[in-house]
Amino acid sequence: MEQRKALTTAKMRKMKQDGVPITMVTAYDYPSGRLSEEAGVDVILVGDSLGNVVLGYDSTLPVTLDDMVYHTRATVRGAANTFVVADMPFLTYHGSLDATMQGVGRLMREGGAKAVKMEGGAEIAATVRAVTEAGVPVVGHLGLTPQSVHQLGGFRVQGRSSEQAEKLLSDAKAIEEAGAFAIVLELVTDELAAWITKQLSIPTIGIGSGVHCDGQVLVYHDLLQYGSDSAPRKFVKAYANIGETIRAGIGEYVKEVKARTFPAQENTFHMDNDVVQYLYGDKE
Ligand code: KIV
Repeated sequence: MEQRKALTTAKMRKMKQDGVPITMVTAYDYPSGRLSEEAGVDVILVGDSLGNVVLGYDSTLPVTLDDMVYHTRATVRGAANTFVVADMPFLTYHGSLDATMQGVGRLMREGGAKAVKMEGGAEIAATVRAVTEAGVPVVGHLGLTPQSVHQLGGFRVQGRSSEQAEKLLSDAKAIEEAGAFAIVLELVTDELAAWITKQLSIPTIGIGSGVHCDGQVLVYHDLLQYGSDSAPRKFVKAYANIGETIRAGIGEYVKEVKARTFPAQENTFHMDNDVVQYLYGDKE
């Protein structure tokens, strides 16, 4: 079978021009990367949502650059033919440009990412410019930006007022002008996401931002219901319930071990009879 080739930023722009939706999903390790690639997603995001869905934190803030490098490397091993984007974690791109570049370098060199994602608007445009000018593709992230959750006052829909809408549009333009090749719009009203999408020449990738974005992204654990404590959210659609499948499978295993019905004969290895006789025959 012919191996598929990873998308390029130029192809993604062409997809926008041609009205072909871009599919993105998060992944965090070898199996999630591999299954996502096999399912045919266009772009994988190693999101810092790994803090919530994999590492058990209550926000993305504790996620470190080491965490991101480790999980990006594992994901890329499973999805070598997919365009993989890695998140720059909290406060790793707000200090010196040198420190930012070191972080970007680690995600690309050690992690194997093809691009990085950064949250923020005009205030990070200079950083986005410097990183793209260094040859690294950047995805922007606007709207509900989880790294600023405490400043935003919670996880709420963005862009309902005209002031918010104007600010988001000008931020999107600033990030595009700085050289980003795509922008994630998270929890932005449908109308505003459509307007921003129309105004930009780079693709928008929506999450909770309506159907008019150029692409969609969902968190792996949300779309598969993988985990036990995530409350259903309006913008998520569950396409499977693997959490339930896993719980039931492990529950069955526990039952069978307690009942000594596992391992059964077909799971068991035996010695030849004469060896058994030689070792134990006289003692029985
Ligand atoms: O970290 C993440 O998973 C993200 C997506 C929600 C876009 O940023």
